[in-house]
Amino acid sequence: MAEADITDIKSIGVLGAGQMGAGIAQVFSLAGYDVKLTDISEETLAESLKTIEHHMKRQVAKGRVNPDDVSSALARIETGTSYSLFRDCDVVIEAATENEELKREIFKELCPALKADAILCSNTSSISITRLASVTDRPAKFMGMHFMNPVPVMQLVELIRGIATEESTFDTIRTLTQALGKTTASAEDFPAFIVNRVLLPMINEAVYTLYEGVGSVDAIDTAMRLGANHPMGPLELADFIGLDTCLAIMSVLYEGLADTKYRPCPLLVKYVEAGWVGQKAGRGFYDYSGDTPVPTR
Ligand SMILES: NC(=O)c1ccc[n+]([C@@H]2O[C@H](COP(=O)([O-])OP(=O)(O)OC[C@H]3O[C@@H](n4cnc5c(N)ncnc54)[C@H](O)[C@@H]3O)[C@@H](O)[C@H]2O)c1
Repeated sequence: MAEADITDIKSIGVLGAGQMGAGIAQVFSLAGYDVKLTDISEETLAESLKTIEHHMKRQVAKGRVNPDDVSSALARIETGTSYSLFRDCDVVIEAATENEELKREIFKELCPALKADAILCSNTSSISITRLASVTDRPAKFMGMHFMNPVPVMQLVELIRGIATEESTFDTIRTLTQALGKTTASAEDFPAFIVNRVLLPMINEAVYTLYEGVGSVDAIDTAMRLGANHPMGPLELADFIGLDTCLAIMSVLYEGLADTKYRPCPLLVKYVEAGWVGQKAGRGFYDYSGDTPVPTR
């Protein structure tokens, strides 16, 4: 495996300041990189900065981050709603909503704002890297860089080559990921790659188990926590990921692999249609309005 020279990489762009974008901005700023963070509204960006600061302080309390590093890391994050913020970025990571049409539109608009040699990555959970790369002006400098949630805590970053990704692009992103202290696993460009190809059908099956009345939310999560030794129950995890993201990933698996075993559970569809998309909305399989989450079924 070639070790790439990443000394020229100083500035990282992060597009989308939701749960993943905020986490990605946090780890790069703490690692000493300048970070440019964009989203569609100033309000979302202000919320995101608050979340980042809160999470950094939590890491300080746990002894994982030096208190002196927090203010300098926060000062390294610049936010804005225009792609012109990315003009000097060496690497830009897209972490917008999991929707192929939206991501394609973003890449078409974004590319003219980037340096010619900037590497462009997508944090997509499931969408074809080759297809996304095809709408950019740089398929050779495009790849999947799939961080796990929560980004500051999770050790793995899944790296995905599109058919046109150059080896030097892959080596640079792998070395950069390792410089963050993360471990990489390389996946081929198949729907949902490795982690979500295995994880999401399990979550979808847990929703079917609820839908068919095999168990309550509490029974299913308790069963999997204590019976399979999972750190979180599958429905709790679904709420944490976001039910909209879970449904989007299952739809990519269902359509991309043309196999009925990936059919999204109708109850998952209904929850998303109701806007009950999990923790970020205050309600999913649990209700988060009180001090402790309460199962809704
Ligand atoms: N949630 C997870 O556990 C998880 C894990 C790994 C990867 N991902 C992937 O990361 C990406 C983001 O997921 P998330 O959980 O952060 O979602 P999220 O809903 O928390 O955030 C998405 C953000 O994208 C923003 N956005 C939408 N359109 C935009 C545009 N045109 N320009 C800029 N910003 C735009 C939204 O305003 C929102 O802030 C998705 O591709 C998802 O599949 C999610």
